[in-house]
Amino acid sequence: MIYALECLNYVPFIYEYTTVIINLLYKVCETKDIDNNAMKSFAIDTNNDILIGKINYKMFACKNYCPHRAARLSKSQLKPGENRIACYMHGFEYNVFTGKLESIPNKWINQSEGWKKSGELVLYDVIEKEDGSVFVKLP
Ligand code: FES
Repeated sequence: MIYALECLNYVPFIYEYTTVIINLLYKVCETKDIDNNAMKSFAIDTNNDILIGKINYKMFACKNYCPHRAARLSKSQLKPGENRIACYMHGFEYNVFTGKLESIPNKWINQSEGWKKSGELVLYDVIEKEDGSVFVKLP
């Protein structure tokens, strides 16, 4: 009888620490609650005041605060033709799908760069279920 001997290779154990990021899904409303080319705000809790809107039947969600000086965006104007929201406070316009600042009114041209400085909209993923439920993924 022949016995085959196998060599055992000892592979060092590598311990990996994996960071698990859990995004929470919140049911916010129903698809029918948001008219096309309109938006609504929803206070999910004290830390999450969000704005959900629909432009050409595509939904978006963002924090309900302007990244310039934190004005509430729900008081602002949606500009569906340009995929933008124009903040009511100073008129800065942000793309609701990319979050980018795209326009500053000419009347602010002489303001300091520091004053004009702005971040981007804080966007959230929106998930529309077949039953019409709308969920938002919050970090
Ligand atoms: S606070 Fe929104 S543009 Fe200034």
